[in-house]
Amino acid sequence: MIRNDIKTLAAYHVQDADGLIKLDAMENPYPLPDALRKAWAEMLSRCNINRYPDADMLELRRNIAEREGVEAEQVIIGNGSDELIQMLLMAVDQGACAVPKPTFVMYETIARWLKRPVAEVPLKADFSLDANSFLQVCAREKASLALLACPNNPSGNMWPEETIRQIAENFRGLLIIDEAYAPFANHTHNSMVGGNVMLLRTFSKLGMAGLRFGYALGDANLITDLNKVRLPYNINSLTQVSARFFLDHYDVFEEQAQKIRQERGRMTAALMAVENIEVFPSQANFLLLRVADADAIFNGLVKVGILIKNLHIKGSLLDNCLRITIGLPEENNRLLNALKELL
Ligand SMILES: Cc1ncc(COP(=O)(O)O)c(C=O)c1O
Repeated sequence: MIRNDIKTLAAYHVQDADGLIKLDAMENPYPLPDALRKAWAEMLSRCNINRYPDADMLELRRNIAEREGVEAEQVIIGNGSDELIQMLLMAVDQGACAVPKPTFVMYETIARWLKRPVAEVPLKADFSLDANSFLQVCAREKASLALLACPNNPSGNMWPEETIRQIAENFRGLLIIDEAYAPFANHTHNSMVGGNVMLLRTFSKLGMAGLRFGYALGDANLITDLNKVRLPYNINSLTQVSARFFLDHYDVFEEQAQKIRQERGRMTAALMAVENIEVFPSQANFLLLRVADADAIFNGLVKVGILIKNLHIKGSLLDNCLRITIGLPEENNRLLNALKELL
């Protein structure tokens, strides 16, 4: 009854983090300030939950458009950026979907659900991206869609703007620049939106992972067509009310992102001083590390109550790699001390 290729897949696994310091999922560790939480709850209590949500979300799209310097017609909202990736993979012309390797796993997973071929372009050992190789693979595999996470997950690095521009200008299909980690990066690709370039953004890493709210910015005609594969009422009323409220208090999240960036700098320096750890430069809210035995370190950390992400795949670019999300300063100190002891 279920397609064989679906049967062979593993469902997305989320590790149980009960009682652990959670540094595995690139969440913002700072809670909402109390006053804001109260005002938010007050807003939510006025929501007309007996009615379907606003299907078109024009006001919300206007708010986002204003923040991003585009028109409301250039904005589409998704239930997390995952949903927008799914819509794109459903709607774009037949053909392969080109992605670097390694990158965010959901690109390939969703492509597989939709039976879309994936063309993977290996990154170099330092996780840099060669624009020529990427374009060659796109041409050879007749890619109609390319997805580039900038900064990339799980490597955390940001490819030079020149590389992205070269790909955008020479790629025949639609280029999606996924800026999930933009709040922690030194630059954005906002100015490239339009033509065959779309940008993906999410509230998840900024402090609202529980909300499931993401959006894409692109050419108005492309957005109109993408809307044709958007489920009616995909964004529930509570999320809509919350998103508008949080957009009005965006500075709170930007301040938190700034603190995370500072902690990332401190952690990078502290980890670089530890022997036997390789630290890769990051412009995201996480760091990629290489150690001698990633499995042993991962298990050792769980034993002392810290959950990170083990990315180890023997013989791959992620050989003995671990990803740590930047947490609260005291959580980061606990991780640092535990790592020093385990090494
Ligand atoms: C590059 C990238 N894009 C998108 C997402 C998904 O974001 P959302 O929570 O908005 O679905 C993630 C989550 O880890 C990510 O790393």
